[in-house]
Amino acid sequence: MPPMEIDGFILHPGALTPDAQSILVEAVLAAAEIAPFYAPLTPWGKPMSVQQTSLGPLGWVTDKSGYRYADRHPVTGRPWPPMPQSLLDLWARYADPERPPDSCLVNLYRGEARMGLHTDSDEADLGAPVLGISLGDTAVFRLGGPGRKDPTRSVRLASGDINLLTGAARRAHHGVDRILAGSSRLIPGGGRINLTLRRARR
Ligand code: SIN
Ligand code: MN
Repeated sequence: MPPMEIDGFILHPGALTPDAQSILVEAVLAAAEIAPFYAPLTPWGKPMSVQQTSLGPLGWVTDKSGYRYADRHPVTGRPWPPMPQSLLDLWARYADPERPPDSCLVNLYRGEARMGLHTDSDEADLGAPVLGISLGDTAVFRLGGPGRKDPTRSVRLASGDINLLTGAARRAHHGVDRILAGSSRLIPGGGRINLTLRRARR
């Protein structure tokens, strides 16, 4: 399917073949053996409904001290596993061939997990794009504008889709309202994995 764009939000539906999706899920689940999924705490002390881990030199973390990038897994204290080459290749193809990503956040959505409306703003250069890869169950994604009260629209992200936040959308609010449980059989045990590739540092 051809890409579609809404003011810098670019969606490449079905960018990954079913085989490529399976290989990626296997690689991510193997990495999660070393860097296990955990339930992050918001700065307000509430556990997030998604489980997270990261790949690459830096991982996005949250706890009572706030949001930041860290070079170690907060539970194991070990460095994050490397990003698979296939992810670096996807970034070079869809996001920026000149400047590679240094972080891949892995979000695991199961059951009622969701992601509240937020902007991605912990990166040093908010000009660098953010690339999302959807695997498993379809997400009901919400895309808004730079202001928290700006109008929003709903976009479905299905397994194998790649989306980008670029241009004006790089500062747009976005979130995941819910997951359509059982819409995919890709992930053992069900659910959705979202990979967010970013350039956290300059
Ligand atoms: C996020 O914005 O942190 C995650 C988006 C998604 O799960 O698609
Ligand atoms: Mn985000």
